Amino acid sequence: MSGTDFQGPFHRCATIVENVPVARETYRIRLADPAIAGSIRPGQFVMIRPGGDGSDDPLLGRPLALYDVVRDASGAPVAFDVVYLVIGRGTSALSRRRAGESLSIWGPLGNGFGRAPEGPAVFVAGGIGQTPFLALGRDWLQPGGPCPSATLLYGVRSADLLAGVDDFHAAGVHVEIATDDGSAGHHGFVTDLLARRLDRGERPAKVVGCGPPAMLAALARLTERHGLDCDVSLENHMACGFGACFSCVAPIRQPDGSADLRRVCVEGPVFPARGVVWS
Ligand SMILES: Cc1cc2nc3c(=O)[nH]c(=O)nc-3n(C[C@H](O)[C@H](O)[C@H](O)COP(=O)(O)OP(=O)(O)OC[C@H]3O[C@@H](n4cnc5c(N)ncnc54)[C@H](O)[C@@H]3O)c2cc1C
Ligand code: FES
Repeated sequence: MSGTDFQGPFHRCATIVENVPVARETYRIRLADPAIAGSIRPGQFVMIRPGGDGSDDPLLGRPLALYDVVRDASGAPVAFDVVYLVIGRGTSALSRRRAGESLSIWGPLGNGFGRAPEGPAVFVAGGIGQTPFLALGRDWLQPGGPCPSATLLYGVRSADLLAGVDDFHAAGVHVEIATDDGSAGHHGFVTDLLARRLDRGERPAKVVGCGPPAMLAALARLTERHGLDCDVSLENHMACGFGACFSCVAPIRQPDGSADLRRVCVEGPVFPARGVVWS
């Protein structure tokens, strides 16, 4: 079956293939679901209800971005991976789930990233913000496509939180690291890495960011100052994930210059950086 045979979003029970630690407090969960694996695009996300079979606790799903699509020997999509950081009740419940159990999920959700740029791409990730960029790197770096290279600038608090660096290398994405405590790579902000490149005269065709709001705001200022095209993927709190509750809204600048609230789960999570009104 080809990816185009699938539609969505779907609400289903998916079997956990594995749920393994990949860094401190960070796990990769693989969910067997050919329909979602065959339809989801980079930058889209799924809502996962982390409670065990039959449990309603926590009641609400948690939004998690597509990390990677898993294919069988014939190339058919059979499962997908999500990488998550344990921060609260939902993600700690998820980390206790085991292979063979099933999870309630719905997706694919959100708009996802756009087409590959005509030139080099730079992904800027803070904290667990690297997760959408593996699938994006695979997509944009397809042979014969317009994007010749992709670089991930990846900032975390300390080296033991770095997750999936080898996956990015294997996908052909260059990786440069920054840590708050200097335990790996540049000692300082991840946006410093981009600023240095721009100061050297580099001019990526596209910059994409995902991470904490303060980092994204700094990235938006930096790229605007250099006249660069930049999109950001927002990680606002979500309750429903499909546009009904308005718990996820963000102020987005409109063509007439006014700001209006937009639902990150439907109109996003990806927005042009210069359109976001940073508080
Ligand atoms: C589109 C999208 C994609 C995402 N993709 C990923 C991903 O791939 N991997 C990943 O690890 N996380 C991702 N997140 C964030 C993830 O959804 C939250 O970390 C998760 O919902 C937290 O649930 P919890 O029950 O563990 O924490 P809770 O118990 O709900 O919260 C614990 C604490 O963290 C704070 N908090 C919770 N969520 C957020 C948030 N989104 N922003 C700021 N503070 C928050 C709460 O206020 C509270 O103080 C994504 C979010 C969005 C919107
Ligand atoms: S999470 Fe309910 S409208 Fe976005």
